[in-house]
Amino acid sequence: MTAADLFGRITKHKALIGVIGLGYIGLPLCLTLAEAGVKVLGFDTDPAKPEAIAAGRTYLKQFSGQRIAAVSRTGIFSATVDMKRLDEPDVIIICVPTPLTENREPDLSFVIKTAESIAECLRDGQLVILESTTYPGTTKEVVKPILEDKGLRSGIDFFLAFSPEREDPGNLTHTTATIPKVVGADDAASSRLACAVYESYGSTTVPVSSAATAEAVKITENIFRAVNIALVNELKLVYGRMGIDVWEVVDAAKTKPFGYMPFYPGPGLGGHCIPIDPFYLAWKAKEFGVSTRFIELAGEINTSMPDHVVDTLANALKDRFRPWTHNALA
Ligand SMILES: NC(=O)c1ccc[n+]([C@@H]2O[C@H](COP(=O)([O-])OP(=O)(O)OC[C@H]3O[C@@H](n4cnc5c(N)ncnc54)[C@H](O)[C@@H]3O)[C@@H](O)[C@H]2O)c1
Repeated sequence: MTAADLFGRITKHKALIGVIGLGYIGLPLCLTLAEAGVKVLGFDTDPAKPEAIAAGRTYLKQFSGQRIAAVSRTGIFSATVDMKRLDEPDVIIICVPTPLTENREPDLSFVIKTAESIAECLRDGQLVILESTTYPGTTKEVVKPILEDKGLRSGIDFFLAFSPEREDPGNLTHTTATIPKVVGADDAASSRLACAVYESYGSTTVPVSSAATAEAVKITENIFRAVNIALVNELKLVYGRMGIDVWEVVDAAKTKPFGYMPFYPGPGLGGHCIPIDPFYLAWKAKEFGVSTRFIELAGEINTSMPDHVVDTLANALKDRFRPWTHNALA
């Protein structure tokens, strides 16, 4: 199939979209595509997920069973564990985990395994889009060689792009369809095709010049948050000693209409992304002989916050219950 044929199939909602990894990112993407009238085939190694989808049940509380049932009942969304069916979709979107190893290094084993499964079935004219968060260079240096292993060429025989997932599961204000999609590819046809996929469900796309640039966009967004959270956590410690309420400071500071964006202190970092993603860049930067001091320092401050919260709580409990303890002993 030529790029023009595939473009026509995508824009006319005739293309079958395969989504690999049906977790917090893959599931809402499948639902959003299917709700827009696009046929979706989900893939997951965990059999419980295709089973739940077939039964119209949810397995993630953020996405209701009714929503899943509405699109699985009509057959527009189905799912399987059978990776041999990866030759069926016209477009394959990869949404598998990208955790850290015990040594805080990128663990690309899920991405590599998935790319190997795709390579087994890859056929002419398929478009593969990596969405898993990763360091700049992964699509070109890791995924592309695996997909090209059997002789098909990226940008000629098949198409390859990266589009970071900026989903915030459970956020009712910003959903899959309303969050703009950054799209990067190393050839014009792949970029245009990947944009067409996201535009098919009404998303605004933001094309950038390469897959590595798109990978860098996502990492930059999450480093920005990690560093600013660390900064406000540090300010909380300083102001706390000075008898100043950091919350009152942030609330007043955010009234400035420019040049300030509020971040709030907390007992550490949560979620799948902020505690992990910055270290993907820190690791890659070493290859270029650059140290990432902001990222390391932010990680240090943020990971020390749980200890600080526990100490503060222990001291508060000690203060509060000391009189009771004395009385009890008297
Ligand atoms: N959760 C978030 O808020 C969020 C936000 C933005 C980006 N991301 C990124 O999106 C990616 C996916 O994250 P997630 O939160 O959806 O993960 P998740 O753990 O919720 O889901 C991943 C799914 O992939 C499946 N899987 C693992 N290996 C597989 C394989 N080889 N083949 C098929 N399926 C496989 C798992 O069974 C699971 O269902 C990660 O790179 C993450 O960093 C996550």
